[in-house]
Amino acid sequence: MAYDWPVRKAHMDDVKDMHALLLDCAQKGLLLPRALIFLYGHVRNFWVVEAPDGRIAACCALAPVWEDLGEICSLVVREELRRHGLGRKVVEACMSDCEALHIRRVFSLTYQVVFFSRLGYEIIDKGALPQKIWSDCVHCAKYPDCCDETAVFKDLGSRKE
Ligand SMILES: CC(C)(COP(=O)(O)OP(=O)(O)OC[C@H]1O[C@@H](n2cnc3c(N)ncnc32)[C@H](O)[C@@H]1OP(=O)(O)O)[C@@H](O)C(=O)NCCC(=O)NCCS
Repeated sequence: MAYDWPVRKAHMDDVKDMHALLLDCAQKGLLLPRALIFLYGHVRNFWVVEAPDGRIAACCALAPVWEDLGEICSLVVREELRRHGLGRKVVEACMSDCEALHIRRVFSLTYQVVFFSRLGYEIIDKGALPQKIWSDCVHCAKYPDCCDETAVFKDLGSRKE
């Protein structure tokens, strides 16, 4: 059963909850940790789903990267709430920002290939991505030779004039 909870843009009061969610996943090696200072500074990139208890159930960011390219990142659903459509909801909310930003291509680096394939993403060679994306990765202990994440990609097509 999909949870029909509201999805909205994140605000400053959400950041500590987002930070705790991301830290928990980062400690399990599922994504890069994000410092509070980074999250406060990039809060406008984030969407969240709020659970009925007022806590953040899911968060995700669309980060503008280069020309018409954006990255879906910092995606987490609270562990006990997974497989109820919240991941899809928060990623689709991020994708809704693409048109206004003129982002026409979106990628993610992930271990969750099946999830992204359900959302219409396809696997691409990491080497096809511009060098700019490695600015975060250079701080990762697995960079460059031990990176075991998969690059997934979605082409949103040309802009409607
Ligand atoms: C990846 C993650 C965000 C998915 O969130 P979720 O709320 O469980 O996903 P949804 O319920 O919206 O699933 C959407 C689709 O993907 C499928 N799916 C989700 N997780 C899956 C999994 N582990 N294996 C297979 N299919 C999966 C669902 O069945 C669903 O398919 P459908 O719409 O065709 O029925 C969540 O598992 C998570 O937070 N993982 C830990 C953090 C992480 O790995 N983040 C990704 C970093 S890029």
